[in-house]
Amino acid sequence: MTIVPAIGERLVSADKTPEELSLECSLRPRLLAEYIGQEELKAQIAVAIAAAKLRGEALDHLLLHGPAGLGKTTLAQISAAEMSSRCHVTSAPSLERPRDIAGLLARLAPGDVLFIDEIHRLSPLAEELLYPAMEDFMLDLTIGKGQAARIRRVPLARFTLVGATTRPGTLSGPLRDRFGMACRLRFYLPEELSQIIERSASVLKITINGSGALAIAQCSRGTPRVAIRLLRRVRDYAQVAGSEKVTAAIAQHALSKLQIDELGLDPLDRELLSLIVKQHAGGPVGIEALAAEVGVDLATIEDVVEPYLLQAGLLRRTPRGRMATSYAYHHIGEPEPVPVSTLKLWESS
Ligand code: ADE
Repeated sequence: MTIVPAIGERLVSADKTPEELSLECSLRPRLLAEYIGQEELKAQIAVAIAAAKLRGEALDHLLLHGPAGLGKTTLAQISAAEMSSRCHVTSAPSLERPRDIAGLLARLAPGDVLFIDEIHRLSPLAEELLYPAMEDFMLDLTIGKGQAARIRRVPLARFTLVGATTRPGTLSGPLRDRFGMACRLRFYLPEELSQIIERSASVLKITINGSGALAIAQCSRGTPRVAIRLLRRVRDYAQVAGSEKVTAAIAQHALSKLQIDELGLDPLDRELLSLIVKQHAGGPVGIEALAAEVGVDLATIEDVVEPYLLQAGLLRRTPRGRMATSYAYHHIGEPEPVPVSTLKLWESS
């Protein structure tokens, strides 16, 4: 039996731990010019900010979508800072009752940014309140109950809603349509992650050279949150080994001890690929079955594990389930089965 660590224990998980939450705050770039990567998206946001400033208006509502750990919260905070406004950060699961969101909306000042993480998880009632708030800057409060119930319209400050989601496809149409801009964050290139690692190392007072940063970047699954976590773990190894500087050799040694391979896969990723290859003849196999077999909840597999395996070209999504690619066979060191059609041709010649 393989023991799969819980999500918080996975070194390469894109989910943040409570400790990382406060660390991320201190490492975050404050302005667009300090933000590394996502060039097209930054250019789009820069134009929208400049135009809103020229008009003296609030920034248009913005939907940020893409895998976890890529910097959606950071971009919301930067947008607010660039507009010289405040950013109020919350997440949909904490806005369960309509009065939670009504209270938040009523407290916003003109130009403020309201950042709602995991916006696809908003309750229908909370979503209903958001529609007139986003469109007309009005809060429709229901006073009383049953037949005596009335709607009272309360004007709101002209604010900016920044919604973040890992699942844009599950957002309701009416909510999606109310965002003036929708931007997708993509995985970062190793060179971009390398720069982020060097920047974070200097804030954390870690000495690292370029090849050390690149060695960590290459194993960071295109995700800054993973890169910074690996940087801190590698620093531990460097300190214990008595080295003042993180070099490529130290990084590679530490990563192998942490069971992170050269593609940034951890034991859970490798187990998932091995299962598809060895137990399911390469697939297709349903994601629910895979999640049950590795003993991890479905949402974690779908939102955290799978996006990078797809991006890295190790997994393919088909209408009948997930399939391992030739690259996955190669990566886990299993021979790829010869297709039946090729065998027949071979036998008859
Ligand atoms: N820290 C985390 N993500 C970053 C980014 N995209 N740019 C600069 N520093 C970061």
